[in-house]
Parts: sequence; structure tokens; C-alpha cells
Amino acid sequence: MASLRAVLLLVIAAVLLAWVTAVSDRPCPEHCECQQGTLIVNCSRLSLTSVPPGLPANVQQLILENNDIAKVSRSDFQGLKSLQFLDLSSNQLSSHGIPEGAFDDLPSLRTLDLSGNRKFVDIPASLPSQLTTLYFIENSLTHVRKDAFTNLTDLIYLDISYNGVESIAPGAFQNLSNLAVFYCDFNKLKDNGVPPSVFKPAGKLSILGLRFNQLTRVPGDLPPGLEHLDLVGNKIVELPSRVFSNLTELQTLEIWQQPSLTTIADDAFDGLGKLQILDATSTGLNKVTNRTFTGLVGAWEVYMSLNKIPAIPAGAFHDMKNLSSLWLDANLITTLSPEVLDTRILPRLSEVFLWGNPWTCDCHLRWLKEHIDNNTAPTIDSPHLNVCNAPPKLKGRAFDTLSPKDFVCG
Ligand SMILES: *[C@@H]1O[C@H](CO)[C@@H](O)[C@H](O)[C@H]1NC(C)=O
Ligand SMILES: *[C@@H]1O[C@H](CO)[C@@H](O)[C@H](O)[C@H]1NC(C)=O
Ligand SMILES: *[C@@H]1O[C@H](CO)[C@@H](O)[C@H](O)[C@H]1NC(C)=O
Ligand SMILES: *[C@@H]1O[C@H](CO)[C@@H](O)[C@H](O)[C@H]1NC(C)=O
Ligand SMILES: *[C@@H]1O[C@H](CO)[C@@H](O)[C@H](O)[C@H]1NC(C)=O
Ligand SMILES: *[C@@H]1O[C@H](CO)[C@@H](O)[C@H](O)[C@H]1NC(C)=O
Ligand SMILES: *[C@@H]1O[C@H](CO)[C@@H](O)[C@H](O)[C@H]1NC(C)=O
Repeated sequence: MASLRAVLLLVIAAVLLAWVTAVSDRPCPEHCECQQGTLIVNCSRLSLTSVPPGLPANVQQLILENNDIAKVSRSDFQGLKSLQFLDLSSNQLSSHGIPEGAFDDLPSLRTLDLSGNRKFVDIPASLPSQLTTLYFIENSLTHVRKDAFTNLTDLIYLDISYNGVESIAPGAFQNLSNLAVFYCDFNKLKDNGVPPSVFKPAGKLSILGLRFNQLTRVPGDLPPGLEHLDLVGNKIVELPSRVFSNLTELQTLEIWQQPSLTTIADDAFDGLGKLQILDATSTGLNKVTNRTFTGLVGAWEVYMSLNKIPAIPAGAFHDMKNLSSLWLDANLITTLSPEVLDTRILPRLSEVFLWGNPWTCDCHLRWLKEHIDNNTAPTIDSPHLNVCNAPPKLKGRAFDTLSPKDFVCG
């Protein structure tokens, strides 16, 4: 009796073992490419209309990009307990194509790429709650609903760039307490589409990308832990005083490509004591005062190229004790006081870009010509591109063709 039971158990064990090995020993699916045995299964660009059957059970990365898959179901992924990374980008999926529970058999799934499925008008409701990374780029999302991410409490990285997003509902980030990176670049966000404090529940948010949207002002009450803020290519008109004052951890601020931005109010950057890089290239900024840059005590790279700045007051940069690289090229500056670049106040200043300004080459600018000739610190980049616009007899002459005694008054 006992031996019969033992035999029976053995048979069951053998059958189980055979099944498990059969599943995990399944070969690379036909036409797909596999790497590291079958840990990576790549079935991209095969005109597949469904997930191929018979996937190896040990697969960790499954790449199904650039096919014609319109629907997935739970049975497609049965038994793929090790699958961590699933790329379904550039298919024909829509929310209807992902029924409830479709990914429920994938306990290890962390990264899901649903980009380039133009039929998605919503974040599918049935995404697995253990996801940490979601790519949802180049779809047709226009509104982020309040419950869009309700169940995605583990999400760390979220990218919804290149949709047509006009608005985000208040509370949409309520449960994203682990989110560190959010990209919403190249969308159509308007001011009222970004409710005040909407990102704040994401208390660990470090990178916020809102590049090329339609914002006319800096969104209110951003999360204080932000380290990188990208507002490039919006329609922001003004940076009001102390607009970033809560962002004490910010390291980079990018606001370039913004012709609408004409005004940076005094003390606008106050509070940004950890900022290292400020990029305000190609804006409409037409005035700089001694208090435009106050508070940027740690900044070491400042890009102010291609603006409309007509003059720089002597103390404009004196709060930036760590300033190393300063870009003022292609502005409307006609003259400059040597105090602006005083290395007794700015000991780390090493390179300054001044070319492309309409210089008035008179006695007031003679110091700059001597400074260049003497190789005094900081280095002035490309002296041959520093060209006089006045007086008439020097118009069009580059600095390297002149001598200091050409710079005269009266
Ligand atoms: C998958 O295969 C395609 C086509 O062979 C290739 O272009 C792509 O780089 C591969 N992807 C990965 C992640 O290996
Ligand atoms: C969240 O998950 C629950 C239980 O899994 C489910 O019933 C609900 O529909 C999900 N809600 C959303 C918005 O995804
Ligand atoms: C946040 O998650 C809880 C459950 O953990 C849920 O009851 C609530 O509706 C969610 N809130 C939002 C705004 O998604
Ligand atoms: C700074 O934070 C406070 C408190 O949360 C908030 O009331 C205020 O609006 C924030 N300021 C800015 C400029 O966002
Ligand atoms: C200035 O730079 C030095 C060296 O990189 C750094 O240790 C210091 O903290 C910086 N100062 C400020 C105010 O950020
Ligand atoms: C700006 O600061 C410099 C240096 O501290 C000072 O000499 C100058 O008078 C100030 N200019 C204005 C307009 O306050
Ligand atoms: C440049 O060097 C000359 C000769 O040593 C000196 O008279 C002049 O003050 C220097 N000027 C500058 C701006 O460094």
C-alpha cells in the first residue's frame, strides 16, 4: 500500500517535472530572436496580430513592438511568472484591447511600454498595481482623469509625452507617492489644465518635464523635493518674484525657447540655493537688474544667450559666488562694466560668452579689449566674433583686428 502511494507520488512528481521543464525549455518562438537562452524574447516587426503562443516560461523581457496586436488577454501571458519587462509599443492596442485582469498572471511585471498605440485615448484601467515604470508616449490621451493612476501606487517612472494632453484632473497624482520621474513633454497643457498643487501628492517627484506645452505661467505649488524642472518651449510671459521659492532642492531649471518670456521679476529665483544650472536661452527677456539673479548662490552655469538684454548692471551676477560659465552671447548689449565680471567677487568665473552683441567700441569698452589681449581671467570666448557696431568708423570690425588704442571716446 505504502509503496503504491510512493509510486503514485513519484509519477505525479515526474509528470509535474516534465511539464515544468517542457514549459521552461520551450524553444525560442518561431521567427523571434532570443538572447541569454530565452530570458529575452524579441518578436518585434513580425506583423503579429496576437501574442505568440508557447512563450518560454522563464522569459524576463518580452518585446512585441511594431506589430499589429489589437488585443491581449490573460491567457496570452499564462505562467510567465518571471516576466519583468513587456514592450507592446507601436501596435494597434486600445483600452478595449486590454480587458480586466489581462496582466494579472504576471507577478514580476515592473516595466510596461504601451507607447505608439494611437488608439489609446485613456490610460487603461486594468494595469497591474506593481508596475514601477510606464511608458505611454505617442498615444492619443487628451485628459488625465482623476482615477487614471489610482491603482498604480508603486509607479516610479511615468512618461506620457507626445500625446494631446490638455488637462490633468485634480487628484490624479493622489496615490503616486513613489513617483520620482514624470514626463509630459510635447503635449497641449494649458494653465487651467494643471490645477494648483496637482503634483504635490507625489512627494518624491524629482524630475518634472513639461517641455513644449502651452503654459503661460509656472504651475502653482510644485512639490518641494523637485531637483529638475523643465518648462522649455512654453508660452510663459513672466517669472514673478519668488515664484520658485519652495523649490529649495532644485538643481536644474530649463526655461529656454520661450520668446514670450519678457520679464523676470526681481528675486524671481530667490530660494533656489541649490540650483546649479539655469538655462534661459532664446527668450524675450529684455531687462536684467542687480536683483534678477539674487538667491542663485550655487549656480555655476548660466545660459542667457539669444535674449534681448540691452544692458547688464555692475552687480547683476554678484550673488552667484560659484559662477563658472556665463553665456551672454547674441543679446543687445552695447557696453559692459568690468565690475560685472570681477573675479574678486566671482572667484570661479572661468569662461564668458559675449560675442554677437552690438558693441560700442569706445573708451568704456577698451578694458575688454585689453582683458582679451592680456589673457586675463575669465576667458572671453571667440574674440574674433566680438564685432563693433559703433562708432561708425569701427562698425563691422572684429576685436581681433583692432588694438586697445582704437577704443576711444569723443
Ligand atoms: C529586437 O529585434 C529588432 C529587429 O531585429 C531589433 O531592431 C531590436 O533592436 C531588438 N530589440 C531588442 C531590445 O533587442
Ligand atoms: C483598481 O483595482 C480594483 C481592484 O483590482 C479594480 O476593481 C478597479 O477597477 C481598479 N480601478 C481603476 C481605476 O483602475
Ligand atoms: C488612492 O488609493 C486608495 C486605496 O489605496 C483608494 O481608495 C483611493 O480612491 C485612491 N485615490 C485616488 C485619488 O486615486
Ligand atoms: C509654497 O508652499 C506653500 C505651502 O504649501 C504654498 O501655500 C505656496 O503657494 C507655495 N508657493 C509657491 C510660489 O508655489
Ligand atoms: C560651490 O561649489 C563648491 C564646489 O563644487 C561646493 O562644494 C559648494 O557647496 C558650492 N556652493 C554653493 C553655495 O552651492
Ligand atoms: C548694482 O550693483 C553694483 C555693485 O554692487 C552697484 O555698484 C550699482 O550701483 C548697482 N546698481 C543699481 C542700479 O542698483
Ligand atoms: C593689460 O595689460 C596692460 C599691460 O600690462 C595693463 O596696463 C592693463 O591694465 C591690463 N588691462 C587689463 C584689463 O587686464
